[in-house]
Amino acid sequence: MSLTFAATPNAAPLGAAERDAILANPGFGQHMTDHMVRATWRQGEGWGGAELTAYGPIALDPAAAVLHYAPEIFEGLKAYRHADGSVWTFRPDKNAERLQASARRMVLPELPVEDFLESLRVLVEADEPWVPAAGDGEKSLYLRPFMFGSNAFLGLKPVTEATYMCIASPAASIFVGGPKPITLWICEDYARAGAGGTGAAKCGGNYASALRGQLEGAQNGCDQAIFLDSSTHTYVDELGGMNVFFVTKDGKLVTPELTGTILPGITRMSVLELAKEFDLVAEERKVEIQEWKDGVASGDILEVFACGTAAIITPIGGLKWNGGEAPSTAGERGGEVTRGIRERLLSLQQGRSEDSYGWMHRLV
Ligand SMILES: Cc1ncc(COP(=O)(O)O)c(C=O)c1O
Repeated sequence: MSLTFAATPNAAPLGAAERDAILANPGFGQHMTDHMVRATWRQGEGWGGAELTAYGPIALDPAAAVLHYAPEIFEGLKAYRHADGSVWTFRPDKNAERLQASARRMVLPELPVEDFLESLRVLVEADEPWVPAAGDGEKSLYLRPFMFGSNAFLGLKPVTEATYMCIASPAASIFVGGPKPITLWICEDYARAGAGGTGAAKCGGNYASALRGQLEGAQNGCDQAIFLDSSTHTYVDELGGMNVFFVTKDGKLVTPELTGTILPGITRMSVLELAKEFDLVAEERKVEIQEWKDGVASGDILEVFACGTAAIITPIGGLKWNGGEAPSTAGERGGEVTRGIRERLLSLQQGRSEDSYGWMHRLV
């Protein structure tokens, strides 16, 4: 039986003037809305206790599994307001399925797809005034579903209780000042994920392990780090929170294949499908970091971009590594294909072009 979220609306939501001030300049991940949803899974009982409440701190036993062994997974997707006032999200069934895949890897319970979708609907309905207006740049309401082992037990074994929650945060573009080409640090000393590990799952631990490389990049004047395969440091994996694509001179749109260490991004999956609209042949294969350096220098690689829910499509400019650098060939705003795919995706998400793929899902 699917979950029904019992609603206890926030008795003291933020006033309209304060909310509008936040929506005028939301940043990313800084402000939370008035509500949250949660549901609890218990071994032998399944999912229950589904509720919508005021946003606020949660109580956790200090011995809760998540605080010690990190059984934690999450998702990220956006709610977009369309011109007629309705609110939509992009391929949420794929996020639901990815949360299930992450749950299987981390031995957490799977939340049924319909319960995941209902949790988003209930939250966005309650926090509807927090969804930025249509036409307000690239603003959206970022949704963050997550799940963690909440039973109190010190020892490594499958959890007997899991808490699922979803919170929401109004978002502007992740990169301040819009889609300018970013400079990447080639991270050779630290890996984000390894063979047989959890790279393909969206679990908190992957991000904790990416942080050191990201920081090293920042210390070297880069915006983000690009991670390589952990065993040979030869092949391109992905960024800390985005997948990567190459537009080649011979008409291909190439992205590293999913080897188990890369997160199967929903934007990545969608860009692969959009390739044909740009007369490009989509190709998933191994890409050597040397091929990237050589290709940009020779002109065989025309454009490079990163993609993900938060970043949408972001042009990649220069590359730096220990002892070297390759200057940007991306110009001020990235290449033509990068800009074209970005606009196509955004126009679909914002309801400005026909949803010929059936990717959009109405929430409110
Ligand atoms: C490590 C990583 N890779 C890629 C992505 C892009 O995935 P998506 O397009 O589903 O947002 C994300 C963001 O979720 C990510 O965290």
